[in-house]
Formats: sequence, structure tokens, C-alpha cells
Amino acid sequence: MAAKRRLSNESIESISSSESLSSMKGKTDLEVNEEPLTHHDAGEFHGLIEHQTTAEQAEKLESGSINPFTGNPFSDRYVGILKKRRDLPVHQQRQEFLDIYQKHQIMVFVGETGSGKTTQIPQFVLFDEMPHLKGKQVACTQPRRVAAMSVAERVANEMDVKIGEEVGYSVRFEHKVSNKTILKYMTDGMLLREAMEDHDLTRYSCIILDEAHERTLATDILMGLIKQVVDRRPDLKIIVMSATLDAEKFQTYFNEAPLLAVPGRTFPVEVYYTPEYQKDYLDSAMRTVLQIHATEDEGDILLFLTGEDEIEDAVAKLSLEADKLVREENCGPMKVYPLYGSLPPHQQQKIFEKAPEGYNGRPGRKVIVSTNIAETSLTIDGVVYVVDPGFSKQKVYNPRIRVESLLVTPVSKASAQQRAGRAGRTRPGKCFRLYTEEAFQKELIPQSYPEILRSNLSSTVLELKKLGIDDLVHFDFMDPPAPETMMRALEELYYLKCLDADGNLTELGRLVSLYPLDPMLAVMLVKSCELNCGPEMLTIVSMLSVPNVFVRPGKDKKRADEIKSIFTHSDGDHLTLLNVYHGFKSDEAYEYGVKKWCFDHYLNYRSIQAADNIRNQLERMMERHNLNLNSNDYDSPIYFENIKRALAQGFFMQAAKKRSNSKGFLTVKDNQQVLIHPSSVLSKDIEWVIYNEFVLTTQNYIRTVTGIKPEWLFEYAPAYFNLDQFMPGDVKMSLERIKERLDVYAKLDKKRKEEKALIENTPEDSVKEKKEKKDKKEKKEKKEKKNKKAKK
Ligand SMILES: Nc1ncnc2c1ncn2[C@@H]1O[C@H](COP(=O)(O)OP(=O)(O)OP(=O)(O)O)[C@@H](O)[C@H]1O
Ligand SMILES: [Mg+2]
Repeated sequence: MAAKRRLSNESIESISSSESLSSMKGKTDLEVNEEPLTHHDAGEFHGLIEHQTTAEQAEKLESGSINPFTGNPFSDRYVGILKKRRDLPVHQQRQEFLDIYQKHQIMVFVGETGSGKTTQIPQFVLFDEMPHLKGKQVACTQPRRVAAMSVAERVANEMDVKIGEEVGYSVRFEHKVSNKTILKYMTDGMLLREAMEDHDLTRYSCIILDEAHERTLATDILMGLIKQVVDRRPDLKIIVMSATLDAEKFQTYFNEAPLLAVPGRTFPVEVYYTPEYQKDYLDSAMRTVLQIHATEDEGDILLFLTGEDEIEDAVAKLSLEADKLVREENCGPMKVYPLYGSLPPHQQQKIFEKAPEGYNGRPGRKVIVSTNIAETSLTIDGVVYVVDPGFSKQKVYNPRIRVESLLVTPVSKASAQQRAGRAGRTRPGKCFRLYTEEAFQKELIPQSYPEILRSNLSSTVLELKKLGIDDLVHFDFMDPPAPETMMRALEELYYLKCLDADGNLTELGRLVSLYPLDPMLAVMLVKSCELNCGPEMLTIVSMLSVPNVFVRPGKDKKRADEIKSIFTHSDGDHLTLLNVYHGFKSDEAYEYGVKKWCFDHYLNYRSIQAADNIRNQLERMMERHNLNLNSNDYDSPIYFENIKRALAQGFFMQAAKKRSNSKGFLTVKDNQQVLIHPSSVLSKDIEWVIYNEFVLTTQNYIRTVTGIKPEWLFEYAPAYFNLDQFMPGDVKMSLERIKERLDVYAKLDKKRKEEKALIENTPEDSVKEKKEKKDKKEKKEKKEKKNKKAKK
């Protein structure tokens, strides 16, 4: 069970810089949208009227010899794919779809997995909208970046265009789009970001919300938003697309929007259950995969596990066991690939490689071991067998201690169906569920709870405010979040000074909401500029936004740790990350060859490269906002101090103090007992820290930790550090002592300042006069006292 204190809405794990289109290279999320759209028009669509076209007209254009969207002749490959596309279930109902689409502003579309929703419906829309003739685009949202990228790739092939030209994708920090793009696959988070800049989504003539049944946070917000936008933009069309579940709920929500349901799937999938409960799902999963390989006909295998570590472990074990099968039982070769969100894109792409050739009449096979990111949308050609142990990691949020965690939980029935749907996409398939049929029927819940009910909402609240929605209480959520969660989010943003006491966006909040980052990170970035350490904080934030940069191979741990100590900064891990990046950009690394330098220093080249790319994009955004990007002198004593001060300004709600009489730390305010994660470089004598992540395993850890001065907490977040609201205990006592000391200093300081001001504001003579007067008065008083005594 692993958990994080904070997860970003869209995980930023997979980012590559090398793949961006040259025209868009290095562009930030917002800049991409600034170029005016220019489109091809050589008259192919002549005579067609938008929202009055027919399936027949579209099919005629599709079957012609010239691509109507580019004017180029169609390739042979196009013709081959077109034939297959026409067999997909959705094609039977193209006219029916158009009839409803043309008559209504919003429609709900449901279809079995594999029926052609994601790849075909947007193309049906293109032929009716003809967005290129009116300078508009069609958007199709996806909950996951890997799906957005791979589906865009597929549809570009289907339409016989180059990816990034007429068909593109846009996911956080990576855009393959150009001013020719008419169909854009994008993550739901990306569209939300665009909506912040352009409340009416004016770029689009049609928006397709795909995989709506997944109910991601971003999709839920988009739905609420779109309900408002459609009133302001009668020309905007909306299609809500979903697997067969819950269509009615969507229809009701969208004011009784019409429904089109497409029955049927491409190929059948046989489902098998285990006769009894499996104690060890991992072991059972491995055995099943090996058994399929040894006994079943040709076809690749997709196995669902829960997280990166488990998957890497399974990949290593399966590869070893497969070699044994080849040696001892004459099986064909088997190649095993991992797939998870934080895997760099070029490695994710490997899952699409062809399986190894068979041997001696026994089939060669590829096996993909994946998290639930392969559960929806994705088609991996060649997958025939799906192995589903029935678990996944789910985000849960505990608003009381403000910890967002990823917990391994049983999947829902809907997920199980989606998983099975990954088989049988390009031919008939089989799905092995490693639980009993009874468990499926009785124990699995029909659908997972919407993400909005399981998340920290501080980013979301900020987004909503930026979207111009002030009245959060009356925002039309499909499922409203718990009031406590909402309160926590408002509170957090208030302490971060992004909202004022009335809940209005502050200037800082407005700026922070422009960055595709957790508000705490964005606050740090903005505040660092006031402390002259913007460039350093840019590096730290970027390094925090990518998968772990340190590599620690099992057999080489000691050596890896020794090398890591070259970069170590004893004040903590954030500064160590900064040192790593400086090393990466040094002349020495450049001359040596950066890749080799990383390898020799046990660093993940891809991760740092990705951080460098993110850094560039964030830097451009900061420049656009005219933020100060100067640095303090490296030799100055405030160089590192100011970086730590800026860290404290973002992370003050994630502070911890060393326990007085025992091991470990206590988190400030929530009083959770934690240990510093073993990977930390923090020096032993540091008493107060801020941390990046709260990791829940059998033990609670805080990871990526840096030492700070507790005085800063009062300086930067006085409202949060109102000690009346603290529970009694070790932390409160220490803070009280510090506060007392600070108050004394403050008083002394105030007095000194008053005296100084008095002296400065009074002319020299009058000071003298005053002093003489004062002395005289004192003398007189003394005399009187003496007289009184004498009289007595
Ligand atoms: N990359 C690909 N390679 C080969 N065939 C593909 C590919 N992508 C899609 N297909 C074919 O197109 C069909 C429809 O795919 P599509 O993604 O549009 O289905 P869907 O209805 O959106 O399914 P899901 O519910 O899984 O999202 C697939 O079943 C498959 O036959
Ligand atoms: Mg789909």
C-alpha cells in the first residue's frame, strides 16, 4: 500500500521532449493555442451544408481517391484500414447518429467497448462540421494521456494524415498539434486548462467527452462547465460518450439529452473465472500467464497489476520463467513489457511492438504487464488474452489529516468489463478473471466512486474560481463532493493566500492558477522570485514533477549510494535535486556525453531530460508573467537560505518536527508519527523540516525532505500557525516557545525602531533641550522626595 500526500490531477509522469513537432517545440500549454488556424480548402466539400450532411455523402468522400482534408491522394494503407473500419458496429448507425447530432445540441452516445466510439465518432463529426472551413476544431477528451496519444496516432493513420497535422493531441507539457489541426485528442485536464483562458471554449465547434463513465475529476468539472457554456454558445455541439453503463444518469444530468446506443462489439470475448478464491493474486497471475504461454494458441497477453514496483517485479520474474519454459519445454519466445503512467513515453511505445516470431511450431508472444492505464480506450493490436486479478490502486482522500493516498482495492464490475474488452479487439479473445464468478456478482461494486468524491480539491477549487465560478455551493456537480473536503480545499487556498477571507481569488491565486501545477508548488515558484531564487525553484519544481531521477539497481545499491553522495546537500533532498540538475547541465557532463554521464552517475537520463523540458516550459510562462528570474550570488550566504525560505512558503502545511524523546518526526498540526524515508539525504541533526510526500506503507514515511527554520513558519503563514488551533503536545510546546521568543524580539525591535524614529525625526538642538529638561525634572523630583523623607 503506497500513498502520497499529493497527487497532481493529471499525472505528469510521461513526458518527452524529443517528440514535439518542430513548429510547436517547446511551446507552453497556452502558447500552442494562440496560433490562428489555417486550413486546406480545395473545394472537396463543395455543396455540403454543415449539419445537413448525410452518411452517404461522407462515405463517398471517404471512398474517393483524394483526401478531402488535405487534397493529397489516399495511400494503399488507407484503403486497407477503411475496409476494416466499415465493419465496426458504429458504422451501421452513421446516419442515425447524424440525425440526432444535427438536431440536438447535446447527445449521449453509448457503445460496447471496441465498437468504434473513440476512433470513428470524431471522424463522423468532422464530415458534418467541416471545421476546417470555419476555423474551428473538434476536441475529443480522454482521461489518460497514453490513450490520447495512441488514439490520435491511430486516427491519423485512419485519415491518412501525419500526426500533429490535421489530427493531433494535446496532453500536459506535450503537444502534437499545429495550425492545421482540426481534430484534437486531449486529456480532460488539458481542456479544462484551456477553458480557464477561454471560458466559452470558442476554438471548438464540437466537444466530445469520451470515457465519461470513468468520472475523472476533470471530466466531472468539464461536464458542469459545459452545461453553462452551451447556453452562451448555441453553436457548440456536445457528445457525451460512455461505455454502456449509466447512460440515463448522463441524459438526466444534461436536461434529458437524446441517447444513441450502439449494440454489438467487434469480436467475442470468452470470460473464465477461477473455481475458488485465490489467496495470492500475484502468484496466481504469474502462473496463469505462463500457462497461457505454454498451452494456448497464438496471441498476446495483457496482465493487469496495481503499481510500478509490482509490475517491474513481475516483468523480471516472468522473463526468467519464460526463458525456463523455452529451455525446458520447447515453448516459443516470450517478451515481457511493463506499462504504467510514470514510464517514459518511448518505453510505453514498446507495448505496440510486434511479438517475437514463434519457434518449432510454438507461438512467440508478447506479454504486457500494466496498471489500469491500459483499461480503457487502448487497443493493442495482437492482444487476445487478458488476465485480470481484480485489483487496482485507487486514490482516496482523508480530509481530516489531509492525506491523499493510493490504496490497492478490488476493481468494480465496470472496470472488469473494460479490462475484458481489451481482448477481442482485433480478433476473438479470452479473459481470465482470477476470482470466482460469485465474487464478481456479489462482491464487486457496479462502478468505482467518482474521483471527485475521493480527492483533495484544492487544485479543483482554484480551477473553478479561475473558470469564473464563484458560487461553488451551487455549481451543478453530477455528484457534489463532501462539504468537509470542500472546506479543506478552501482553507488550504486561504492559507496559501490564493483566496482572501471572502473566498475571492487574490492576485497571487490568479497567477498560481495559470500554472499546471499543484497550488503549493506554484506558490513556491511565484514566491521564489521575490527572494531572488526563481531559477533555482524552477529547477526544483521541475525535478519534483518527473519520476525519481536516482537509479538504484538491486545489485549495485552501495555504489549508487556512494555516487549519490557527490550531489548530496546536507540540508536536504530538494537542494540535492538542484545539485543533480546543475551537474546535468555542467560543461563536464556535456563534454563527457550527457547520457553516459547520467548512466555513470546512476541517474535516470530520461527523467532529468523530461524535467529539463518542463523547466523550459515553466520558465517561458514565468517570463510571460514578468516574474523576476534573477539569482542570488552562489557564494552568498542567502543563496541556499532563500531557496529554503521559498520552499517553506509553499510547503508550510507539510512541516514536521523531530520527536523529542524518540525516533522519527511528528507532522505539524496533524501530529502523525512519521519516519524520514530511507532515500533521504537529510542530515541527522536537523529538527524542523518540510516534506514533499507523505508515504503510507506498513510505516508512515515522509519523502523528499528539507530542513527549515521554524521561525519562517510564523513569518510566512501566520494564519495557519495560529497556535490556539493546535492540539496540545510536543510540537505545540516547541512552537509556543519559538513564538514567545519571536514576540520578545518583535517587541524589542519595535522599541528600537521607535527610538530611532524619534531621534531621526527630531532636530539636534531640540534633542539636547529635551534631555536637559528631562534631567532638570528628574533632579527636581529627587529633591522633593528627599525633602519629604526629611519631614517624616
Ligand atoms: N491501434 C489500432 N490497431 C488496430 N486496430 C485498432 C487500433 N485502434 C482501434 N482499432 C480497431 O478499432 C476498433 C474500435 O476502436 P475504438 O477505440 O474506437 O473503440 P471504442 O468503442 O472507443 O472502445 P473502448 O470502449 O475500449 O474505448 C477496435 O476494436 C479495433 O478493432
Ligand atoms: Mg474508446
